Amino acid sequence: KNIVILLSGRGSNMRSVVQACSAEAWPARIAAVIANRPDAEGLAWAAAQGLATAVVDHRAHADREAFDAALAAEIDRHQPDLLLLAGFMRILTDGFVRHYAGRMLNIHPSLLPAFPGLHTHRQALAAGVQAAGATVHFVTPQLDHGPIVAQAVVPVRPDDDEAALAARVLAAEHRLYPMAARWFVEGRLALAQGRVRQLDGAS
Ligand code: GRF
Repeated sequence: KNIVILLSGRGSNMRSVVQACSAEAWPARIAAVIANRPDAEGLAWAAAQGLATAVVDHRAHADREAFDAALAAEIDRHQPDLLLLAGFMRILTDGFVRHYAGRMLNIHPSLLPAFPGLHTHRQALAAGVQAAGATVHFVTPQLDHGPIVAQAVVPVRPDDDEAALAARVLAAEHRLYPMAARWFVEGRLALAQGRVRQLDGAS
């Protein structure tokens, strides 16, 4: 199976997927890592691993439709079976999302449906929740609202600030996203009639 990963920045989730794919010998390869910014930190790391990388710069396109069309053209050159959003900070058009329906996952640093959007850890601390976490979900047109595949829960500690909570959640993300991606490439996870279907011990 071909995995294509999209990112905008640091790329630590991308790294965790790349490393698990090779360490656990998934029936898959990382076909490409694509960023919307040439200076995305994760891109340099991926290139240093010998992975195919590309930049589709959103600033070089007149509007979202043009950007998404160029992005999809680059992605499709790599014939993706699975497209992973890994800190990809662009809103995607409905047409783009439909094109990858059932084969695009995202990771979000909250226990969805709580705290979609930006500043999730700030939102969680302000709400006073005692548990936080991360969610992997299939991507649908409504931001951070697709069918939930897997979640990881971490405690919120009384003295947490945003950075401390973010670090604890991120460590959980690095276990959760590779696990979900592996289920998918092993055929143990699919989207059927808009609902998550997990087969044979994907849990
Ligand atoms: C992660 O917290 C992820 O959940 C969110 O953006 C952050 C990306 O971090 N969507 P990284 O680039 O993977 O290090």
